[in-house]
Amino acid sequence: DWQPENFVAEAIERVRAQVGDGRVICALSGGVDSAVAALIVHHAIGDRLTCVFVDNGLLRQGEAEQVVATFREHFHIPLIAVDAADEFLEALAGVADPEQKRTIIGEKFVRIFEREARRIEGARFLAQGTLYPDVIESRAPDRQKGVTIKTHHNVGGLPADMQLTLVEPLRYLFKDEVRAAGHALGLPDEWVWRHPFPGPGLAVRVLGPVTRERLATLRAADAIFMQELRIAGLYRATQQAFAVLLPVRSVGVMGDGRTYADVVALRAVTTEDYMTADWARLPAELLARVSSRIVNEVPGVNRVVYDISSKPPATIEWE
Ligand code: XMP
Repeated sequence: DWQPENFVAEAIERVRAQVGDGRVICALSGGVDSAVAALIVHHAIGDRLTCVFVDNGLLRQGEAEQVVATFREHFHIPLIAVDAADEFLEALAGVADPEQKRTIIGEKFVRIFEREARRIEGARFLAQGTLYPDVIESRAPDRQKGVTIKTHHNVGGLPADMQLTLVEPLRYLFKDEVRAAGHALGLPDEWVWRHPFPGPGLAVRVLGPVTRERLATLRAADAIFMQELRIAGLYRATQQAFAVLLPVRSVGVMGDGRTYADVVALRAVTTEDYMTADWARLPAELLARVSSRIVNEVPGVNRVVYDISSKPPATIEWE
């Protein structure tokens, strides 16, 4: 019978045995997995761990600030925060293809991470929050496309010449076990229960080319949706929820005038394992409130739709 405290104690010992007196770097994403991995490594080797957080400019409203502040406030782990938004957005300029976006973001991330890693003298290990399903899914062939389902940047995406040995304390865990371990390690509830967020971030939720303006529009809409979902007490009842900015405009009316403006889609799903999912039956009143707030408060949006597709055949993300 699996106990988070036992797992944590054993994982700490395993990291100690693997790392010896070496130095470790850990890429903090803001999600629960990398945070739990970092906490375990920190318990094992203390300040010989340095965390690196890369702001790729594709995060949600206030997210970068919140991750850095929470981490510094709760844990005394050396943390390097890198603002790389310009570099990512430049590399993504004009790119509309989803897999091309992923490739560009994955490569940029590796490049920036390597650059930061080189400054951390003597680091020989890289800690990652790889989970068991990540290991499985990145090996599974996609029957429809004949390629890896989606290229997850945190598995096998790092170049062979990086000369860093992987430390993966969560490699055999499922998500619920990681949350339990995070709780046992004192990770704040809000962090423990965060919905997963894809590595390529909002780049795969701004459909079509990614621009600062479109990111700003999406951030504002997404923040309203998340706020209302939390107020309604339904954040934890859904396993993932977010807004998507569609690459079409639609006609509307405002006052005496006709508008021709952006469309936001809301996506909320219930799922056990993210391999299959159902659309969440959110209350109509909640959807109505979110819709009217978005069209009233977010400039350039005149229509909101709710995604009622299950996975399969749709995926959870739109790209
Ligand atoms: P899909 O859209 O394939 O997503 O149903 C399943 C889960 O994986 C997340 N996802 C990603 N995570 N990099 C990631 O780190 C990616 O490229 C990526 N694509 C999808 C998605 O948010 C959902 O939780």
